[in-house]
Amino acid sequence: MNKEWFKEYFDDIYLEVNKESVSFKRTEAEVDFIIESLKLDNTKIVLDLGCGWGRHSILVSKKVGCKIYALDLSQTLLDYAKKEAEKDKQEIVWICGDMRDREKYPLDLDSIYCMFGTFGYFDDVENIKVLENISYSLKPNGLFLLELNNFYKLIKFLSPKDVSSLTFSNGEVVYVIDERELLMFENKVRVNRKFFYLNSKKVVERNLIIRNYTIPEIKSLFEKVGMKIIEVYGDLKFNKPSIDSNKFYILAQK
Ligand SMILES: C[S@@+](CC[C@H](N)C(=O)[O-])C[C@H]1O[C@@H](n2cnc3c(N)ncnc32)[C@H](O)[C@@H]1O
Repeated sequence: MNKEWFKEYFDDIYLEVNKESVSFKRTEAEVDFIIESLKLDNTKIVLDLGCGWGRHSILVSKKVGCKIYALDLSQTLLDYAKKEAEKDKQEIVWICGDMRDREKYPLDLDSIYCMFGTFGYFDDVENIKVLENISYSLKPNGLFLLELNNFYKLIKFLSPKDVSSLTFSNGEVVYVIDERELLMFENKVRVNRKFFYLNSKKVVERNLIIRNYTIPEIKSLFEKVGMKIIEVYGDLKFNKPSIDSNKFYILAQK
């Protein structure tokens, strides 16, 4: 499989599926959590790392009025985000670039957030490089919020095969078949996803592979780049993490 799968995966199909499956209510709950955990106000300078179609950046900007940089590799998603921000009259600095590339990062940031399964796309060395870039980009004492899957729960309930269906905005009905495999020695999950377009009778295939980190592992990565974990939450209501949490929200400081 292509190691750089993420260069193609986040295209117009991802955008359509994601807009369909992520509700505004969920985005708003995530945004309220981002604002509170990072103590954002209109004096702060923030980076949305792997901002996608801008669902967080635009709402944070609307709610807080702080300066926001938003970095992503997918030009398709950034083009959509820019248009939405213009409609909402929000000024955001959109950066098209690879999170492994230090030169793409703004400097002296108060905070950075990285939401919705956007960490762990590379090998361990490059994943650390992303954290090094984050640390480099933050002011001293700057905060970083990272959403991670709870790997313990993920492996316990990993479903080898799932079928779902959705209807795109043009009326096209699409069946999605996911086949998942755990790579035990690497803590990675590989997903083969097939989209079956019922009306236009085409099949599109996508593969992704993500390195998952346990809390002790991520703690040691942060230590390597001179940062420390100051809090771990198990949900968007600031509850403690547990084996049943779907996600872990890691708050780290430079
Ligand atoms: C799962 S999406 C999450 C998007 C957004 N954070 C959200 O919550 O909707 C992951 C995002 O990371 C971006 N991405 C993938 N690889 C990247 C890379 N190497 N550098 C920068 N962004 C990348 C993708 O284009 C995509 O927008």
